[in-house]
Amino acid sequence: MANTAELTVDGKSYEFPIFEGTEHEKAFDISNLRDQTGYVTLDRGYKNTGATKSAITFLDGEQGILQYRGYSIEELAAKASFLEVAYLLIYGELPTKEQYSTFEDSIRRHTLVNEDMRKIFDGFPVNAHPMSVLSSLVSAMSAFYPDSQDEKSDPDGHIIRLLAKLPTIATWSYKRSLGHPVNYPKNNLDYISNFLNMMFALPVEEYKVDPVVAEALNVLLILHADHEQNCSTSTVRLVGSSQANLYSSISAGISALWGPLHGGANQEVIEMLEAIKADGGDVGKYVDMAKNAKTTGFRLFGFGHRVYKNFDPRARIIKKAADDVLGKLGVNDPVLEIAKGLEEAALHDEYFIQRKLYPNVDFYSGIIYRALGIPTNMFTVMFAIGRLPGWIAQWKEMREQKEPIGRPRQIYTGATLRKFVSIENR
Ligand code: CMC
Repeated sequence: MANTAELTVDGKSYEFPIFEGTEHEKAFDISNLRDQTGYVTLDRGYKNTGATKSAITFLDGEQGILQYRGYSIEELAAKASFLEVAYLLIYGELPTKEQYSTFEDSIRRHTLVNEDMRKIFDGFPVNAHPMSVLSSLVSAMSAFYPDSQDEKSDPDGHIIRLLAKLPTIATWSYKRSLGHPVNYPKNNLDYISNFLNMMFALPVEEYKVDPVVAEALNVLLILHADHEQNCSTSTVRLVGSSQANLYSSISAGISALWGPLHGGANQEVIEMLEAIKADGGDVGKYVDMAKNAKTTGFRLFGFGHRVYKNFDPRARIIKKAADDVLGKLGVNDPVLEIAKGLEEAALHDEYFIQRKLYPNVDFYSGIIYRALGIPTNMFTVMFAIGRLPGWIAQWKEMREQKEPIGRPRQIYTGATLRKFVSIENR
């Protein structure tokens, strides 16, 4: 099989190497395209562009396969803890018992957040969206740990700090929105129980972590932990490629995640399902509106994916988990039935079949978050807590691979050179 590709342009032929990944994905290596031909490629939304080589996550959108470091998402979700998966993503292998215990211990020791960060937090309006607070405070961490700016410093301490402190900071917004005091971390608790305790414990009564809730959260965080070169991860790598510090890079990723076409879709889904319910529950009406998106401007949130064209394996696990968790917790959420009805109607509709639009990770996750007591405006924050190990792993890999600064080209379509006209004469 040829391991080069030939391109003929302006009557001249050029050869480009073909690069093949370990799962046999093939790419034209056009690193020298412009030097050789004078041309660049045009690929809006990077639908065909591999921005990097990466050994972290494998995804096959046609077959619905997702693997972290070679382990299937189904197996990890069923058998691993979120911190084990975080270690796997960041350091490349599942930890031994000893490595796990050192990793977990160092995270425990860093859960407390500098009290001066609280002063920054206190300056935010009470109704600030928790995602804006989260990205701002993560960015502020670089001011508290200025050595993170030193490109030659070992990033491990900052990696641990971020993993340890993100859940603490995340819970502040929720507590504040209720007018309740924030909870300090409790280092006798594991990562997930600690988060739940900071979210839900009140100084006036005993709070016990429900194992059903902890297990459901563990699965959700694992399913969100990485997804190769999506919008927020590419943002983290792009920002980091300028040698910006870890905190600034992750803060940029949090901002990218917030958008409703990316992680912000989980909040939009629940709001959409609520709206359908309030409107009488006619799912067909909303499927029709989505089919006419060009005139109605309405999309079905939680549907469609740039990469998955058959099914999203995360959505399959989450749909099943939604039934399980709501059943075990004795929650009867009418919105779950609306979601199932909407899925059924869309999956049998020619518009959705033709465009290969299926429920994505965000379609059912909000229903579980809600059953766990997590408010709607915190859903994307939960996604960020889950995605943090992936962002860190990708930032670390980008740094270790010594990737050049990310700097896409463009094709200019504006005015050509013209003379300046002074303001009096315009
Ligand atoms: N509802 C109705 N039509 C849709 C939808 C949808 N949710 N998604 C895509 N389409 C249509 C779109 O109008 C287009 O139709 P046409 O060819 O007639 O113009 C066609 O399907 C292809 O869509 P696209 O926008 O070109 O596809 P994309 O790969 O650029 O966008 C997407 C992917 C996820 C942004 C998009 O499917 C979408 O907006 N979905 C809703 C938002 C959402 O759920 N986002 C979460 C994604 S999963 C979590 C994550 O990793 O971020």
